[in-house]
Amino acid sequence: MLTGLWLLALCLPPGSGFGEAATRGTQAYDRAAAKLKYRRPETSPQPPGNGTSPARVELGKLLFFDPRLSGSGLISCATCHNPSFAWGDAMDRAVGWQMKRLVRRTPTILNVAWADTLFWDGRAASLEEQAVGPIASPDEMNVPIEDVLKKIRSLAGYRTLFQKAYPAESDSVNKDTLAKAIASFERTVVSSKAPFDEWIEGREQAIPESAKLGFDVFNTRGNCSRCHTGWNFSDDGFHDLGISTADPGRGKFFPGKEDMQFTFKTPTLRNVARRAPYMHDGSVDTLEAVIELYDKGPRIHRESISPDFVKLNLSADEKRELIDFLSTLTSQDRPVELPLLPVR
Ligand code: HEC
Ligand code: HEC
Repeated sequence: MLTGLWLLALCLPPGSGFGEAATRGTQAYDRAAAKLKYRRPETSPQPPGNGTSPARVELGKLLFFDPRLSGSGLISCATCHNPSFAWGDAMDRAVGWQMKRLVRRTPTILNVAWADTLFWDGRAASLEEQAVGPIASPDEMNVPIEDVLKKIRSLAGYRTLFQKAYPAESDSVNKDTLAKAIASFERTVVSSKAPFDEWIEGREQAIPESAKLGFDVFNTRGNCSRCHTGWNFSDDGFHDLGISTADPGRGKFFPGKEDMQFTFKTPTLRNVARRAPYMHDGSVDTLEAVIELYDKGPRIHRESISPDFVKLNLSADEKRELIDFLSTLTSQDRPVELPLLPVR
């Protein structure tokens, strides 16, 4: 795409700077065509082997909000993935078992149904695979899965709900059904329509003019759409933006591959204005500071730094427009209702 833009830039009349033509004019860049790439999908993905049903989603929601799935009885999935903070925790790094600060920030679980890989380093391939990890992890909820299953089996309320959700299983409370139910619930955690979506669908007044210009910067001069692609604004790829020097990210699984070191998964930008602080280690406090980081480009030299992460030299107007655009990605979600947990 970059090459395409450069070619178009070369075709412009002399004197029209690439940046100006690309973001302010219409010759090098077709806004209407760009908009087509961000249309919301009509349906959400359902993996083979875990078809959804209202009973499964309801059960998964109870489990997600139930602190009894932890060793202390105090930590649920929702403690860290808190719907009040767009399914994150508003902290720079997660706090787990015995108030231990973890090394990474809690990512949102919004739109994880569409994720190809999970975690900042992509180490889980499916929500089903991921779901039981935090329960058993000594850093997070710290309880053996067998103990959790025992606890659940001791509550008639849960036994009935598992039976209803997985009637074909002879022993319906097991590690698999636990993971499947949580995953089924997570797939329903989807950011609903934002002003941006209304604009994409054709309502011109849905977002301010400055946000439309910001959308143009996003797709041209800013180079943002190189990695933040599609309706969920993520390519599910891994990139190094020169942030942390200690955490190898995805590189941990590819020792010796220099270009994979320090790479982290591109996060969604949906509801991003509600999810500060930013980046895998929460090291960037505000959206303004994120834009500054991109504007300055790499400050350190290492082989893994993404070739698409380059100094931008944006104007003050362009920076403001980018922020205005990002703000239109916040959906008007209804507050999440807390479930009543089985107590017997
Ligand atoms: C102590 C805080 C904490 C708790 C409790 C917790 N998580 Fe997380 N979660 C995190 C952190 C931190 C990460 C990122 C870890 C990493 O990338 O290495 C994460 C990552 C995830 C992801 C991957 C998201 C993505 O976009 O890649 C999912 C899904 C998830 N958690 C679901 C759950 C579920 C389900 C539970 C409960 C069974 C749970 N979490 C409990 C902090 C927590
Ligand atoms: C080379 C790919 C790439 C490009 C280009 C890129 N991003 Fe990112 N973006 C990422 C990755 C990867 C992260 C997470 C990095 C980390 O945590 O170490 C990220 C993080 C972010 C975040 C923080 C989100 C969060 O939840 O922490 C925002 C906001 C953001 N990018 C906006 C932009 C904007 C605006 C542009 C254009 C000016 C842009 N990005 C260009 C890959 C990219």
